[in-house]
Amino acid sequence: MKTVFITGGAGFIGSALIRHLMVNSDYAIVNIDKLTYAGNLASLASIQGDARYTFAQLDICDRAALDALLIQHQPMGVIHLAAESHVDRSISSAGEFVSTNIVGTFTLLEAARAYFNQLDDARKQDFRFHHVSTDEVFGSLAETGFFSEETAYDPRSPYSASKASSDHLVRAWHHTYGLPVLVTNCSNNYGAYHFPEKLIPLMILNILAGKALPIYGKGDNVRDWLYVDDHARAIHRVFEQGRVGDTYCIGGHNEKTNLEVVHTLCDLVDARFVADASLAVTHPHCPAAQGKASRSLMTYVTDRPGHDHRYAIDASKLANELGWTPQETFESGIAATIDWYLNNQDWVAQVQSGEYQQWLDKNYTER
Ligand code: NAD
Ligand code: TYD
Repeated sequence: MKTVFITGGAGFIGSALIRHLMVNSDYAIVNIDKLTYAGNLASLASIQGDARYTFAQLDICDRAALDALLIQHQPMGVIHLAAESHVDRSISSAGEFVSTNIVGTFTLLEAARAYFNQLDDARKQDFRFHHVSTDEVFGSLAETGFFSEETAYDPRSPYSASKASSDHLVRAWHHTYGLPVLVTNCSNNYGAYHFPEKLIPLMILNILAGKALPIYGKGDNVRDWLYVDDHARAIHRVFEQGRVGDTYCIGGHNEKTNLEVVHTLCDLVDARFVADASLAVTHPHCPAAQGKASRSLMTYVTDRPGHDHRYAIDASKLANELGWTPQETFESGIAATIDWYLNNQDWVAQVQSGEYQQWLDKNYTER
């Protein structure tokens, strides 16, 4: 059985990838995660106890622990997702982003390089280091045009600058040391198990709780939304079939303004309350419980500093060379996402406790 290391597997995309690989591959998976505020093993409850799955709680900045784990498990690849991932947090406190996203990626690359160098030729042929990154490294688009593999880097937030640095390090380890790397740059994800600091889960949970829906600026910023399971399928495809040293852009062809997203969420939640009277009992503070429109909660707040206007991905390289296209439309994915949050209130209650609550109170009172 081949073993794959996945870093950040307790996070939003990492847990979706692990759940996907447990069903759609026969890899043994070692999940390396520090369990920051964003890491939650409850997102992997469905695979706990499976003999193909191992969890190792460690920091990717810990070189000795990484070396020991590589020797112990002899993986044929690493898929690297561990990161600090939230732009707003990077603006208020950039240090962790430099530490995990840059120094952590460097440490992991060095550990992988040392491990790779002592493999025999056949295992060297197999080995891959797949770095999972974001389209935010390309900067911001005006009303037209798309990011592609050819777009020059122009990161503008502490988060995107730290991810851009990590992308450059990964490519340098390929060109300089011959580490067989793959890089993917993906657009905004949404779906189940998404930590409610990001736009879509924050809005769904605030609608249900009858809390204000904070729209930054005019709400006319555009993001290209991809359902997280489609991202997991794309990573799986690139990891197995991507050309070593290459970059692949991944996107959903679902450009929406933030206002369009929030309107859609409000209207879909309202429709569910009409269809199911029991929701008014379980969520009495939602405007829809009193027959009111959830759009009434929309509140315009101070814009994010340096807020990138538009992201949009041209994913034709991945479609043409590796045959990947998204399976979900925005309409099907967003409906499934709302239903998931309605049906998984235990998970929500767990992640909404403690540090998260304090962060939310501080940030949203300040705006
Ligand atoms: P997330 O914040 O939900 O999860 C990150 C995970 O990394 C958490 O489980 C956390 O505990 C872990 N982690 C953080 N620091 C660590 C450290 N020092 N050592 C070990 N583990 C650590 O993030 P996500 O949204 O799942 O994103 C995963 C990756 O995908 C990131 O690299 C991100 O840049 C990239 N990405 C995200 C999106 C998106 O829309 N969310 C889009 C494109 C790319
Ligand atoms: P976010 O989910 O933080 O992802 P990213 O900044 O990485 O694209 O934000 C998505 C968009 O939604 C972005 O334009 C900022 C905006 N936004 C709001 O208007 N209000 C909010 O409360 C949040 C979290 C985001």
